[in-house]
Amino acid sequence: MAPQKMALSDVKNRKLLPGKGLINGEWVNSSSSTSTFDVVDPATLDVLATLPEMDKTDTAHAVSAAFEAFKTFKKTSARSRAKMLRKWSDLCHENLDDLALIMTLENGKTLAESKGEVAYGASFLDWFATQAEMTHGQCVPPANLNQRIVTFKQPIGVAACLAPWNFPIAMITRKCGAALAAGCTTVWKPAGETPLSALAQAVLAEGAGFPKGSINVITSLTTVAEVGQELCRNSKVHKLSFTGSTRVGRLLMQQCSSTLKKLSLELGGNSPFIVFNDAKMSTALDAAIIAKFRNSGQTCVTANRVFVQSGIYDEFAAQLTERIEKLKVGAGTEADVFVGPLTHSRAVEKALAHIEDAKAHGGKIAYGGQAMEGVGPGYFLQPTVITGMTTEMLTTREETFAPVVGLYKFETEEEVIELANDCDVGLGSFVITENMARSWRMAEALEVGMVGINLGMLSACESPFGGVKGSGFGREGGTQGIDEYLVVKSMLINVAN
Ligand code: SIN
Repeated sequence: MAPQKMALSDVKNRKLLPGKGLINGEWVNSSSSTSTFDVVDPATLDVLATLPEMDKTDTAHAVSAAFEAFKTFKKTSARSRAKMLRKWSDLCHENLDDLALIMTLENGKTLAESKGEVAYGASFLDWFATQAEMTHGQCVPPANLNQRIVTFKQPIGVAACLAPWNFPIAMITRKCGAALAAGCTTVWKPAGETPLSALAQAVLAEGAGFPKGSINVITSLTTVAEVGQELCRNSKVHKLSFTGSTRVGRLLMQQCSSTLKKLSLELGGNSPFIVFNDAKMSTALDAAIIAKFRNSGQTCVTANRVFVQSGIYDEFAAQLTERIEKLKVGAGTEADVFVGPLTHSRAVEKALAHIEDAKAHGGKIAYGGQAMEGVGPGYFLQPTVITGMTTEMLTTREETFAPVVGLYKFETEEEVIELANDCDVGLGSFVITENMARSWRMAEALEVGMVGINLGMLSACESPFGGVKGSGFGREGGTQGIDEYLVVKSMLINVAN
């Protein structure tokens, strides 16, 4: 019997699907327009939900609500905020199956990955609950003995959190969990492709006790430019956090300049994945599969340039191809699927263009290379392995963001450092080696924000996440994540008699 297709009607807790935006504690349609947009399952192309297309007027209302709420929310104790964050995390775990299904349907990732992301997303709430009570200031030794100097940290104000579609829950909790822990109020702008997960998070956060106005959610797909502009230019917003492309990050930064907002930008990556001759083959293969094929190749730290040292290049290519041939492709709701659809039709087109470009420059397709037939009407691509990659190819400069792995050959450590750093962005990187001294040298030499040694994933709430160069600035998670939403104030006291 064919497996039963799962749908949004299988979500048990119907409250998780409010179907509207959230402003000042009310679930609302747009106040100025009747426009709507469809949320589409990228595997089946079925319409999952139709949501209000909110605009700049709605955004201004949401900001004003957050601004008013900040006046009282900033006075709440860190302990009370920590309690609400922990309760929110508990609610994520209680609703794990429903949340995972919603995410798989709107994003396409497999149910196993979605369940992992719900837990990962909740871990940020627990982490920032702890961090909320750790935002200590300092007692500074004064040069002038008639003075005493202390510093303390205060929430910056209203935080606008613009989240991407590739991690629809974890990027909300990584940003908004930190902001709320700090005592900021928030306006969330989830991606138009995956707003349902964010709305479900807002329902849970409300249930955890966050007061009205502290969380506002704008739903928008085609109005994203005007919504973004309002968040950037509105002087009541003091902080903006964005995850997305370098192009949009630059634009937001320009738009924020008139109000001089504090910014965190986690932008495009082009992660090198470097395998040395001394690597353990099984570690290299496991890590490569995770780093490249997790979320169908759509993580910000996806292995985009896989450099393999010449002594093991052929063996690695052969074994990787063998493993990839066995990966099951299909809708994320189906059993045993490892590679789901891409979230956009544009993503398939871009990946196919990169594959054609590699072929035109002499690359060899060891496996795949085409759109996937017969698994559904959605945006499926064959998992693909290309050998003989060279630096002239498009993939060297641009992230492919799809389940396509291209293998470059290198000879020496010095050469691969130069190749890896010859890049205008620097987010993640991976090094596979059994030589501990080399792992330290590589970690220090790579121009990136994060280095994974002998693993294929950089996800941990306690580890700061972010990049250098065109990958932006600011850190999410770690002990640094909450500081992005705080300002340091110094107080100087005259103690002279
Ligand atoms: C990202 O791709 O930005 C998030 C990846 C992760 O946190 O695992």
